[in-house]
Amino acid sequence: MPARRPFVFGNWKMNGLGSDALALAAALKAEGRPAEGTLAVFPPFTQIAVVAQHLEGSGILVGAQDCHEAAKGAYTGSISAGMVADAGATAVLLGHSERRHGLGETDSQVRAKAEAALAAGLDTLVICIGETEAEYLDKATLQVLDRQIEGSIPAGIDVERLVVAYEPVWAIGTGRTPTIEEIGQVHAHLRQKLVAHLDGDGSTVPIQYGGSVKGSNAGSILAVPDVDGALVGGASLDPAEFTKIFTAGGGRFAASGS
Ligand code: PGA
Repeated sequence: MPARRPFVFGNWKMNGLGSDALALAAALKAEGRPAEGTLAVFPPFTQIAVVAQHLEGSGILVGAQDCHEAAKGAYTGSISAGMVADAGATAVLLGHSERRHGLGETDSQVRAKAEAALAAGLDTLVICIGETEAEYLDKATLQVLDRQIEGSIPAGIDVERLVVAYEPVWAIGTGRTPTIEEIGQVHAHLRQKLVAHLDGDGSTVPIQYGGSVKGSNAGSILAVPDVDGALVGGASLDPAEFTKIFTAGGGRFAASGS
């Protein structure tokens, strides 16, 4: 990724139809081209092509919410990394907690998906990690994150293509967040861990915080050292709220149409 902070990415999850996606994309495009920072949206698979076409030239990246680890084959209902690239996506979310915990996705599967995404030529891989509430209460957060980094991120990955999203499972969609101090401690640890895991190359990898980020808390969260951006779920479905998060983190738009 080019070093253009903040990195504010919207995960639309399984919401909306094509017309909703287009309206959302049009509202974001109307703000103008991101002049400072990096904006990306992750629509459902069926909306990638239409959103990518609409946002072409806008400077807003479009990604998929997942991909399969195999390049092709007898995997009914699955979508490969090559297919999402073919639809116009240049990014992919991998290992989101709703897949890890809802669908039993393992670290090694996430790593295999990352290898597949790299091989398919996707530019940006957002690898998600995060502890459950039980692990948080057990004070096992850092241990869990270390294990997920070791297991999910290919050690030889081109760091220019990597973004790491730290999302405490218990903060996703709940309106609850860790304290600013806790976020700072975790991100400082993640920075060190990424540097060690990626043989010294992890110092520039963007680390996003995710989990109940909204316009009203984005400024304080994005001001924390080593918080390079936000992965936003619910609030990314509201274009005004999403752009508020981006601008609260120091993101700027060039004049519309420029
Ligand atoms: P939320 O979701 O912003 O709705 O909490 C974040 C995410 O799942 O990425």
